[in-house]
Amino acid sequence: MAYAAFRSIGAYVPQKILTNEELSHMVDTSDEWITKRTGIKERHIASKDEFTSDLGAKAAQKALDRSGIDKSEIDMVITATISPDYFCMPSTATVISTKLGIKNATAFDISAACTGFIYILAIAKSFIESGMKKNILIIGAEKLSAITDYSDRGTCILFGDGAGAAVISATDNKSEAIIDVHTGADGEYADLLMTPNGGSGSAHDALDAEAGTCFMQMKGNETFKVAVRTLTKDVKEILEDNNIKSEDIKHFIPHQANLRIIKAVGDALKMRDDQVVITVEKYGNTSGASIPMAINDLYEAGELEKGELMLLDAFGGGLTWGSALVPF
Ligand code: ACO
Repeated sequence: MAYAAFRSIGAYVPQKILTNEELSHMVDTSDEWITKRTGIKERHIASKDEFTSDLGAKAAQKALDRSGIDKSEIDMVITATISPDYFCMPSTATVISTKLGIKNATAFDISAACTGFIYILAIAKSFIESGMKKNILIIGAEKLSAITDYSDRGTCILFGDGAGAAVISATDNKSEAIIDVHTGADGEYADLLMTPNGGSGSAHDALDAEAGTCFMQMKGNETFKVAVRTLTKDVKEILEDNNIKSEDIKHFIPHQANLRIIKAVGDALKMRDDQVVITVEKYGNTSGASIPMAINDLYEAGELEKGELMLLDAFGGGLTWGSALVPF
């Protein structure tokens, strides 16, 4: 049986930075409020002519360059995004494939909001272990600024743009294998995080120009509580299922939504501060891109050791959640 190994990482953020101070001139908020409630200080914002696929392609090119695998060997490209270039088609994954010069690889997008990267990791692992594919490019890419209402202070302070990508490859070496990936969802909580307009279930006709806005809406406080509860339970389960203790984890890399959520889950798992990776202060919440962006930051800072065990977890709209145990 083939095993699936995490081969390489890459990330990209657009140049423009939007600070808390700038946001305080756009809505009724302050740097102090945002920092205290979320830990976020700034976020990157893509330009008008920079699409999700551009961010994704740049992150993916880095991951490819670092993988030692030629693009002709990539046989599948999966993008996790809730801000695709195009509403229905083509998928962002096919656009990214073309931008990278990848030909004939299976390509598709999935929608699992902030849990997207864990979902595509699970899909890649399954395709490789079944023997159907050998080298899969997985990409979390978001231009959330395109679906953010900059007159809503409850959401616009949270989100940023960016992309992260990884190459997942077949290996015979069990010690390199991705150990486990958990994924779950509960549609009963769908109304906590929604983009209510624009789709076939929308109150507006998707073809109605007036309904062209497809903004995120969130019940932040309720989302916060469900996030802490669900993440803590899920991460405890994946550790127990695999007989792994918190102290065996070198880096715990959670989805970067809110510093207080990350700290609450880290404390519940009895993680030391040096185990818990935090990047939310500089990127905000980049949804499905936040975990690979954080892994990339560690990689570029020289803080990841070959073979070390990473614990990933995420939670997002749907509701969706997931966690993974991944040797680097
Ligand atoms: N600046 C100043 N005041 C604000 C702001 C702001 N930006 N936003 C809200 N407030 C006010 C509210 O109006 C409220 O005022 P009131 O007491 O007069 O009614 C007060 O602050 C408290 O509001 P809460 O919503 O209770 O604030 P909370 O401490 O919960 O923080 C936040 C809000 C930051 C949104 C938090 O709830 C959160 O991070 N939630 C989770 C978000 C998340 O994890 N989302 C999941 C992933 S996203 C995805 O899947 C795409």
